[in-house]
Amino acid sequence: MTFTRTLLITGGMGFIGSNLVRVLRRERPGWRLINLDALTYAGHTVTLDDLRDDPGHVFVRADITDPDALRHVFDTFQPDGVFHLAAESHVDRSIDAPLAFVRTNVEGTVHLLQQARQAWGDRRDVRFVHVSTDEVFGDLGPDDPPFSEDTPYHPQSPYAASKAAADHMARAWAHTFALPVVITSCTNNYGPAQLPEKLLPVVITRALRQEPVPVYGQGLNVRDWLFVEDHALALLAAFERGQPGRTYGIGGEREVRNIDLVHATLDAVDQHLHRPPGHSRPLVRFVTDRPGHDRRYAMNIDRARRELGWTPSTTLEDGLQRTVAWYLHHTAWIDAVTSPEHRDFQTRWYQHRDAPPQDAP
Ligand code: NAD
Ligand code: TYD
Repeated sequence: MTFTRTLLITGGMGFIGSNLVRVLRRERPGWRLINLDALTYAGHTVTLDDLRDDPGHVFVRADITDPDALRHVFDTFQPDGVFHLAAESHVDRSIDAPLAFVRTNVEGTVHLLQQARQAWGDRRDVRFVHVSTDEVFGDLGPDDPPFSEDTPYHPQSPYAASKAAADHMARAWAHTFALPVVITSCTNNYGPAQLPEKLLPVVITRALRQEPVPVYGQGLNVRDWLFVEDHALALLAAFERGQPGRTYGIGGEREVRNIDLVHATLDAVDQHLHRPPGHSRPLVRFVTDRPGHDRRYAMNIDRARRELGWTPSTTLEDGLQRTVAWYLHHTAWIDAVTSPEHRDFQTRWYQHRDAPPQDAP
């Protein structure tokens, strides 16, 4: 089969990366996707097992901090674009072990920018889509307007600081070397194949097993939620229509307090399992808060709407139903990614989850 384009996706065995692979195979079947992933605790080939024999999906196990491996991949596959998602992505881990975040998110991004620059030279028909987060802007008070692309950077967690540093590097490569970089700043994603260390899959997997559901602090922090497929479509739009050097805010325009989202998710699990309404709500435990816990994130998405022609299409209600249904039908996946060799993330890293309950608000 001949392919019209070759795209390199880093972190393609992770949550958003694997969903992006699926969306691109569906939306752009003529593209060959090179999925480069180091398979850290967060990356699992089982997630894309069904694409193992797909000629349009080539998996390469490599680390973005290894310049020789990156050079080899660029030489071998000659990609026409990069979707850069490989990262250490979990705030709680960044509090316990920040250096891995500096290595992968900052150093790894620089290695990748360098390789792209060397491989592409003066080519301008290529794009380097650098996938980032709204967390680089800090947090919002209850009455503040959402972040925009012009909001000054003010990262507050080690994760956010490492992503902010990576964004600065990407912009520097765009400015200094005219590398055609497009940056996206997205709000919280949810959907299929997210590791059970992030809020939604923690709630779903614990509700399935009728285990306590940890809610940090009083559950009053607010996040803006976007269904992961909508994010993948935004990345495709940014690749095809994004202007080099420009940043695009991406989000769901759907802000929710954690406790309300937890209740809605528990209710959706109960509904799917034909349990009585409200059955799982008593599982909620208010546990010691995350240190420096950002209060609220939200992103203005007017620019993406206007310039990329992108808009979120899945409502939170529909997305939650689809997500819960996915987890209920993929218990083997949950078992695989939480198998003993990966289980340390549940036991060793987050002691505060098991702290004594606090009074409910
Ligand atoms: P994830 O942790 O699920 O996946 C990360 C993937 O990167 C894993 O497959 C892992 O094996 C791989 N990886 C990690 N270090 C690597 C390295 N050194 N070399 C090669 N591969 C490596 O993360 P995710 O939630 O899918 O996030 C993907 C990207 O999107 C990240 O850059 C993240 O900052 C960004 N983002 C995430 C969200 C969200 O809500 N999850 C929101 C906005 C932006
Ligand atoms: P998370 O999924 O870790 O994303 P982020 O920290 O990048 O926003 O957490 C989402 C929100 O849910 C955040 O405010 C922390 C909170 N949270 C809990 O209350 N309990 C949990 O077990 C987890 C993982 C998160």
